[in-house]
Amino acid sequence: MTPAPGALDPLAHTRADFPLLERTVDGRPIVYLDSASTAPKPRCVIDAVVGMYSRHTANVHRGVHVLSEEATEAFEGARAEVASFLNASPAEIVFTRNSTEGINLVAHGLGFAPGDEVVLTALEHHSNFLPWRMAARAVPVGLDDDGMPRYDEVERLLSPRTRLLALAQVSNTTGVVAPVEQWIAAAHARGLPVLVDAAQSASHLPIDVRALDCDFLVLSGHKLLGPSGVGVLYGKRDRLAQLALYQTGGGMVRHHGDDGFTPHDVPQRFEAGTPNIEGAVGLGAALSYLRGLAMDAVRAHSLALGRRLIEGLREIPGVRIVAGSAPLERRIGLATFTLEAAGLSQESLARVLCDRYQIIASGGYHCAHILHDRMKLAGTVRISTHVFNTHAEIERALAALREIAAW
Ligand code: ALA
Repeated sequence: MTPAPGALDPLAHTRADFPLLERTVDGRPIVYLDSASTAPKPRCVIDAVVGMYSRHTANVHRGVHVLSEEATEAFEGARAEVASFLNASPAEIVFTRNSTEGINLVAHGLGFAPGDEVVLTALEHHSNFLPWRMAARAVPVGLDDDGMPRYDEVERLLSPRTRLLALAQVSNTTGVVAPVEQWIAAAHARGLPVLVDAAQSASHLPIDVRALDCDFLVLSGHKLLGPSGVGVLYGKRDRLAQLALYQTGGGMVRHHGDDGFTPHDVPQRFEAGTPNIEGAVGLGAALSYLRGLAMDAVRAHSLALGRRLIEGLREIPGVRIVAGSAPLERRIGLATFTLEAAGLSQESLARVLCDRYQIIASGGYHCAHILHDRMKLAGTVRISTHVFNTHAEIERALAALREIAAW
């Protein structure tokens, strides 16, 4: 079943762009509701990657031949596309493997001293928690009984030892937009930098790093309709320049002699070794595709799907929604919940959704163990949308859950 475009789903025309949506399980079309984990790729991204492999295979920034020039042009073109997407300058865009690597790069590069603190929330994805915990003392804002961080407590946690604030713009578990602006204002009033984890938000909200005035921001290709294994670290030029080197090797060095070496300027100084050239070009194509849809339209669609999802879940007996009381207008098209039914674990429930209803959703802990511990939840199910999803698909998921609730 391919839902028809309609007033409810102004982006439904995009469905034809995603070959994965033609997949079936047991002969029935899938409903893909797991984009927070990894999003399907539109044909233009697949073509961009295949085009690099089939016509422009060469290394970047190293070769003197025409193929290398073409590859370098495509790679740097992708950097420029990322910069436009974020309203940054290309010199502020470092290609990484993913958001996790970008966060590790900053955590390593800041050179923390013993006792230094990083303020974050107990809800952060493991990737925005463990690197800080390894490098410094992680000081989290606590959670309320509904799983929402007590964001307003940030001021109370800032201390003379605080070196940075790290915050997901949208939680991968609650789907709620965080008050990033408030945290940035609190941090900047004390001269502290802020790292924004945009791994989930970048697919759903327009992001303007200049307006936001964040110091660092990370995102991942695979959730943004792009390839896996490529991500981005945005940093203000001076902030990036102050970071210690994270990795050394070929490509990041201007000169290496007996007495030592001189690294390139940012961003290349942080791109040691041959980069994921095809991934970066694919990511550039994905961002160009999203910009073509207009991020305001993407935001409106995500909001509408999220609203219907939460309203529908609230009506199903036995459902508990994580952060279910958060305002609908601060959500994206994502909901995490438990459903008590027929003695099923939440992971089994996600499997049943796939095997019996062809609904692809996440089941487990979503890299948020602390949240699950605090809420005493042995796993949750997560439904997450992207541009191609429709209200009919949300209804199909809700109908399946209603049926399971009655088992
Ligand atoms: N970080 C991804 C998620 O939230 C994998 O599922």
